[in-house]
Formats: sequence, C-alpha cells, structure tokens
Amino acid sequence: MAKTDRDWDQKYRTNETPWDSGIPSLELRRVLESATLPPTTALELGCGTGTNAIYLAESGWQVAAVDCSAPALELARRKSEKAEVEVEWILDDVVRFGADREPVDFVFDRGCYHCCRRVDLEGYLETLEAVTKTGSKMLVLCGNTNSTEAGGPPRVSKSEIEAEFSPLFEFHHIREFHFEDAGNVQGPLGWSVLMSRR
Ligand SMILES: C[S@@+](CC[C@H](N)C(=O)[O-])C[C@H]1O[C@@H](n2cnc3c(N)ncnc32)[C@H](O)[C@@H]1O
Repeated sequence: MAKTDRDWDQKYRTNETPWDSGIPSLELRRVLESATLPPTTALELGCGTGTNAIYLAESGWQVAAVDCSAPALELARRKSEKAEVEVEWILDDVVRFGADREPVDFVFDRGCYHCCRRVDLEGYLETLEAVTKTGSKMLVLCGNTNSTEAGGPPRVSKSEIEAEFSPLFEFHHIREFHFEDAGNVQGPLGWSVLMSRR
C-alpha cells in the first residue's frame, strides 16, 4: 500500500482528474526539443493514465512508468496497447522504489513530487538517488506558490525546490510554466525544473 496524500484510486474511478489532459505535456515537449536529450532510457514517476510515458515511447525512448493507482495503470495499459507501443507499467510506491532497478538517463515527474514531498520527501529523494546516475537528467513539473488562483495542485516555492533537490542535482532551469488541464485548457501555474544528477 503506497503512502499517499489522497485516495488516487477513487479519483481515477470517479474521473476527478483535471490534470489528466489527454495530450502530451507541452513543457515536456519543449524541453525535449531544446535540450540535448537523445532518446535512451526513461522513467516516469506518478505516470497516471500514461499519456506522457506513451509519448516518450512513441518518440523512441525505452520507458518504464510507475504509479500507485491500479485503475490509472489499467487505463495506461489499454492506451499503450491501442498506440502499439511498449511501456513497462509498474504498480508501486514512488517513495519506496528503485533499489533493484538500473539507473535511467531521464526521469520525468508531472505532478507526483509535489504530492510525495508532503508524505515522505526523504523516501522520494532516496528513490531519485537509486534510479539516476551521474549525468542523468530529470524534469519535474510541480505546483507553484506564486499562483494566485484558487485550487490547483499542491504548491512549492522556488527556495524549497532548490533546497530539496540541490544535494543530488545541478539545475539547468527553474522556470514558470502553465500546466494543461483536461480539454487542453490552460491549467495552473507551475514550476518546470530541469536538472542533471551530480
Ligand atoms: C496529479 S497526478 C499526475 C499524473 C500524471 N503524471 C499526469 O500528468 O497526468 C499524480 C499521480 O501521482 C500518483 N502518485 C501519488 N503519490 C504516489 C506514490 N507515493 N507512489 C506512486 N504514485 C503516486 C497518483 O496516483 C497520480 O497518478
């Protein structure tokens, strides 16, 4: 049983999933286009229904994707079968993961870090240590304390991001962006954090 900040299964079963835009993240696409990131091995943390993991696989990456919600992964599995791409879908807890896995070149997290840090930041960072090696890149998309709108994801300040990731990573950018919500409407203000493992 994953240690989580809410009942994710219930959210997926009842379609209370505004973050599940159904389109690959525009910020992920921008980063992959501008950074020198040839498709090799990738891991998505908190992949939900798999849109971005499938996008990475379609772009030539060898992808593993983990989430603690079985209903979300069931949808993800069906989507990858339909898209005829291979993704290793893993039902597990992100804050207790990775000890037995080979490190990957790229880790992607859209909306999982800002939840996990509230429950077990240390466990989340131990997972990052296990699944990366020197030079591995990581892109984190998370909520932003500068947002003035009601609702949206848990929020993180720039100084919290710097303090929490800097022992393991060097930063390439910490910049503001907007999530896309379901229906491809502009979602909440977030942080885009691109880093390399020390
Ligand atoms: C806001 S949703 C984002 C989902 C997906 N990344 C997306 O962009 O559509 C956060 C996801 O993290 C997963 N999650 C939260 N805590 C987790 C944990 N401790 N271990 C694994 N997955 C977790 C949830 O099940 C949910 O799918």
